[in-house]
Amino acid sequence: MKKILVTGGAGYIGSACSEYLLDMGYDVTVFDALITGHRDAVDPRARFIEGNLADRELIMDVCRQGSFDAIMHFAAFSLVGESMKDPGKYFGNNLANGINLADAAIAGNVKTFVFSSTAATFGQPEKTPISEDDQQIPINPYGESKLCFEKVLKWYSRIYGMKYAALRYFNAAGATALHGEDHRPESHLIPIILETIRGKREKLMLFGDDYDTPDGSCIRDYIHILDLAQAHELALSAPESGHYNLGTGNGLSVFEIIKAAEEVTGKKVNFEIAPRRPGDPARLIACSDKARRMLNWKPRYESAHAIIESAWKWQLKYPEGYAK
Ligand SMILES: NC(=O)c1ccc[n+]([C@@H]2O[C@H](COP(=O)([O-])OP(=O)(O)OC[C@H]3O[C@@H](n4cnc5c(N)ncnc54)[C@H](O)[C@@H]3O)[C@@H](O)[C@H]2O)c1
Repeated sequence: MKKILVTGGAGYIGSACSEYLLDMGYDVTVFDALITGHRDAVDPRARFIEGNLADRELIMDVCRQGSFDAIMHFAAFSLVGESMKDPGKYFGNNLANGINLADAAIAGNVKTFVFSSTAATFGQPEKTPISEDDQQIPINPYGESKLCFEKVLKWYSRIYGMKYAALRYFNAAGATALHGEDHRPESHLIPIILETIRGKREKLMLFGDDYDTPDGSCIRDYIHILDLAQAHELALSAPESGHYNLGTGNGLSVFEIIKAAEEVTGKKVNFEIAPRRPGDPARLIACSDKARRMLNWKPRYESAHAIIESAWKWQLKYPEGYAK
């Protein structure tokens, strides 16, 4: 049975990925400081260590003693707007604390490292869909901090021989029966739409309806968290290091997501058009042929309806999210 250390396993994607790994028979240890994550999101079958990656000695000890076969590194800060106001917070956690973890992985002789990277490393894309080899010019400290850590892994792999996969998620969405999205504050479109439908929010602010897209709203590539989990598991047995873009390849506009949410829930979404947000590209769509080809990955949730339905069921089951 493979032993996996999951950093950020109390967060949105890390908790769902832990659930997936445990269902597949892996031995999972979650390491999380519960900064943005929730204690109740940690799968009860996992071992839990409450700790911060800033504590270099602690993470060194955890890795030296854990005999982990692999690390899946989800722990990070990921609010683009906040990163523009407080870049040090992002480089500190996503880069410096990430280096503590990478050093601990080497000290603990961990063979494989799977990293949560992001479409934000591409900045304003030169073309769509975006391929792995397209130029990466981040336009905010969040994306830059993630790109820097991809480079750290490249060098650690060359120098120490640790295999890594940098998985660049596009828009993570959806829920499992047990784990869903509960960011505070929430900044993602689908949970905000569903909270508006439930009356938890008065209205959705739709940022820009004058983009160069068919209906004028931004187009994104929504990928279900279980499909991300599947890619993580497959990356464990990839023969060599690599970077992979993870999305379905289906771009959906904000208006299309609103319409799908109205169809899934049978209720109207109250929204207001607001000015564009600086730095929002019109389109972000992944070309994930490489993951399909090299990892044998195939997303199962290809329709917006299926993704939204899973998120809707989770919100109805946990209307206030995880317990405080
Ligand atoms: N949500 C998305 O759409 C998306 C898209 C692309 C990439 N990502 C990346 O995926 C990862 C997970 O995202 P998420 O939405 O689940 O975020 P999240 O905030 O829900 O989860 C992050 C978890 O990491 C923990 N954490 C943060 N810093 C830590 C530290 N120094 N030590 C220990 N624990 C720490 C938090 O407490 C939290 O539980 C992040 O790395 C993010 O950058 C997310």
